[in-house]
Amino acid sequence: MPETAFVSGRFLPLADAKVPIEDRGFQFGDGVYEVIRTYGGRPFKLEAHFARLNRSAKALDLRQPYSLEQWDGYISEGLRLAGFRESKIYLQITRGVAPRDHAFPPDLQPTVVMTIRELHALPTAVQAAGVDAMTVQDLRWGRCDIKSLNLLPNVLARQQAKQAGVFEAILVKNGEVTEGSVSNVMVVEGRTLITAPEGPLILSGVTREVVLALARREGLGLKECCPSREQLYAATEVFLTGTTVELLSVVRIDGKVIGTGQPGPVTRSLAKRFAEQTA
Ligand SMILES: Cc1ncc(COP(=O)(O)O)c(C=O)c1O
Repeated sequence: MPETAFVSGRFLPLADAKVPIEDRGFQFGDGVYEVIRTYGGRPFKLEAHFARLNRSAKALDLRQPYSLEQWDGYISEGLRLAGFRESKIYLQITRGVAPRDHAFPPDLQPTVVMTIRELHALPTAVQAAGVDAMTVQDLRWGRCDIKSLNLLPNVLARQQAKQAGVFEAILVKNGEVTEGSVSNVMVVEGRTLITAPEGPLILSGVTREVVLALARREGLGLKECCPSREQLYAATEVFLTGTTVELLSVVRIDGKVIGTGQPGPVTRSLAKRFAEQTA
């Protein structure tokens, strides 16, 4: 079974997987999710993703039905059935199925879905050259720390970037950089990293946490505050972090060249350390 799905306890081919139309995930985006990737065929930082899944579910008063051990078992089984060299694992829990009403009944049975697809890493040429980005107004709600299914502002921002022919939309709220549409944003000033703090303005990335730990170990300075748009343009380097982008240099933003216009030494050195961790 290549592309594999898991729906509330049952594995089946992805193309055959279905959920009822009155699932609240479909009707309201009433649910949470995680994206995990494998390195060497094993899920990377499963505990951290599980902890964030629990935090997100708790914040929405949603029952997360499985323990870490159960998830570990289902993921291992899914990876075995799918049989890819490297996989992208998508987990989603919705509040469940009920007649459409904004308020929800108590004790709904959550719908748990997992999909396993082949992971296609960014081409090494793209990684080596870096990417373009554009700034887009951050139109999201006040709890971006919850990894909820409600992604419309992210979807529209990413689409805007795609239509502009750039890789990522960097979200700016009240003149301050929060994060990317699918990534966290790191601004480098010399030997200091500046990035938005954990809290309601951003999704606290698992990759962000790994990279900040590497940065501390490298002796880099760290400022957890939202960089201004001016700081973004004037940075010596800018890079993105995320499960699928890993560490990705941004060499132009809104058509303005960042630093030398090539991935800089801080980004390259952190990317090397990151690659060592995931080898
Ligand atoms: C809005 C947003 N910020 C940050 C991230 C990076 O998070 P992680 O490193 O856990 O993949 C993602 C990942 O999907 C995201 O969607």
